[in-house]
Amino acid sequence: MRPELDSYAHVASGKVRDIYRIDEQTLLMVTSDRISAYDFVLSTPIPDKGRVLTAMSFFWFDTLGLPNHLAGGPDDERIPASVLGRSMVVRNLPMVEVECVARGYLTGSGLLDYDATGRVCGIELPAGLGEASKLPEPIFTPASKAQIGDHDENITYEQVVGAVGAELAADLKSATLDIYRRGSELAASRGIILADTKFEFGRAGDGSLVLADEVLTPDSSRYWDASTYVSGQVQPSFDKQIVRNWLTGPESGWDRKSESPPPPLPDDVVRRTRARYIEAYERIAQLRFADWPGAAEASA
Ligand SMILES: Nc1ncnc2c1ncn2[C@@H]1O[C@H](COP(=O)(O)OP(=O)(O)OP(=O)(O)O)[C@@H](O)[C@H]1O
Ligand SMILES: [Mg+2]
Repeated sequence: MRPELDSYAHVASGKVRDIYRIDEQTLLMVTSDRISAYDFVLSTPIPDKGRVLTAMSFFWFDTLGLPNHLAGGPDDERIPASVLGRSMVVRNLPMVEVECVARGYLTGSGLLDYDATGRVCGIELPAGLGEASKLPEPIFTPASKAQIGDHDENITYEQVVGAVGAELAADLKSATLDIYRRGSELAASRGIILADTKFEFGRAGDGSLVLADEVLTPDSSRYWDASTYVSGQVQPSFDKQIVRNWLTGPESGWDRKSESPPPPLPDDVVRRTRARYIEAYERIAQLRFADWPGAAEASA
């Protein structure tokens, strides 16, 4: 018999995920179907999005083969039936308080910093780069973890050294760039550009780094379709573009500049977005989403 979800103490909730305590050493990380766009969590969930993201994290943890926080498989008996397929049983680790971002392309807060200073996180970049430019080589652009509701703030490598020491900072940088390289190579072989991504690391008892949180999911990464990539303009998001286009198009009646929350999504936008997430997983992992725990019941 699987436990009920309410037998675990709720520890925290982010925009998309809910965390529960299984025991002193172990957490249950549940990924909901919530989707955010333009800094709002939308009122309409995307069915199975949480399962797809969980499946992707498991795929990448498995593929990378690095020390990671998983303490059980996707079907672990400690996972309640109600959240099967969208949950990870993980070791409760002390986390390194740095968001470890790698960028191979310039966009978002990286581009804002570059336009203002010619640098990103203190890294001097060549002149003449613009939206979606490919960088000469991938760069480590750490950020401080923001309080809920705030944006993460880009920091320099020196600030990371100041916060965690030179040795750990060097390890974070090399691990981040190494995983980004491997992730982007695999994605590229499937026709997908991994523009940038964020990792979080915990520390094992002996102090060594453990890859934690979610890994190389569309929520922690910018994935672009390589077949439509054009430098110099904002790239469509592989997963969220259908939602963004609808929200900013005439049909939604929503004004992005107003403070008001976006309206509910119509069914066909939900359906097409769900299919897009599944496509991302199936293309990258080369696995069928229908084989994932809970996926069959959900779409039945
Ligand atoms: N193995 C782990 N042990 C302990 N904490 C972890 C582990 N893996 C991830 N975390 C932490 O769990 C939290 C995951 O929360 P989540 O990402 O849902 O919310 P958030 O980061 O606070 O907000 P946001 O919605 O902006 O992402 C993060 O604080 C992350 O650092
Ligand atoms: Mg987070």
